[in-house]
Amino acid sequence: MSLKGRDIISAKDLSREEVEFLIKEAETYRNILKFRKPLFKAEDKTAITVFLEPSTRTRLSFQFAGTYLGIKVLDFGATEISSIQKGETFEDTMTMVDGYEPDVIILRQSVAGNAEKAAKICKATLINAGDGINEHPTQALTDVYTLYRIFGRIDGLRIGIMGDLKYGRTVKSLSIMLDKFKDIKLYYVSPPSLKVRDDVLNEIKNVDYEFAEKVEDVADKIDALYVTRIQKERFADPSEYEKLKGSYKVTKDMLMKLKKIPYILHPLPRVDELTPDVDELPQAKYFEQAKNGMFIRIALLKNVLGI
Ligand code: NCD
Repeated sequence: MSLKGRDIISAKDLSREEVEFLIKEAETYRNILKFRKPLFKAEDKTAITVFLEPSTRTRLSFQFAGTYLGIKVLDFGATEISSIQKGETFEDTMTMVDGYEPDVIILRQSVAGNAEKAAKICKATLINAGDGINEHPTQALTDVYTLYRIFGRIDGLRIGIMGDLKYGRTVKSLSIMLDKFKDIKLYYVSPPSLKVRDDVLNEIKNVDYEFAEKVEDVADKIDALYVTRIQKERFADPSEYEKLKGSYKVTKDMLMKLKKIPYILHPLPRVDELTPDVDELPQAKYFEQAKNGMFIRIALLKNVLGI
């Protein structure tokens, strides 16, 4: 199996074996990484992060991953100071970036399908770091890696996915990712107007799933709860967002009333759907999850670069 030069546009682009291999590699590098000392001497490899939409974790974890791997990492900078501001098209921007010959381009932007378009334009290996409401495959890798670290396995888990299932790209990629594993049950928990889309459900071939409106209805059945924020920036009508704001919330009080508290994951950022008092609970895993993201991205970058 070789991941060298492979574009990662969708969670579909990796097989179960490849995901398991990357998890194993992430564990290896986590154990040997000394942080101040790069893992490899690979200054001849260059990656560039091109984030045309806001990001903290994904951009930084890729940049740190590259730094600790020993490659060169550049950043496109903020869209406000780029020629996009002057009206340059997406196609021209990507052609330009690729022309400087980076080995890998890590791209986030707001149009579903544009990661695939960029991969066709660019010679560089393209990693999709979020294309609108469509996909975010490296977040899904982070999520399954986190589940693996908690449970020591992914097969057989019962997982609640809660929140904005309509616009959340992490929900789609995680669903596709979990579909590679055996005996998984998903509980999609959301207000009726934020239900998971058909294009997501159509990707699910093996996994058994159910819908619920309240987390209390599924809490006893799940091992982990994956909470997501309402994707405010995707609402065409701001009053729709205002109506839904606060329509679901996970709090410490609510969790303490349950017979069994599930492990809590969240791709972050959180807004008001997951209160900070939950952080005290041993089941709160979201900050570890963010850190795990760096290790799985070390594994991914190393392999797509063929280091
Ligand atoms: C997610 C994203 O960008 O889709 N963030 C992330 O990468 N960790 C989730 C979100 O923004 O809600």
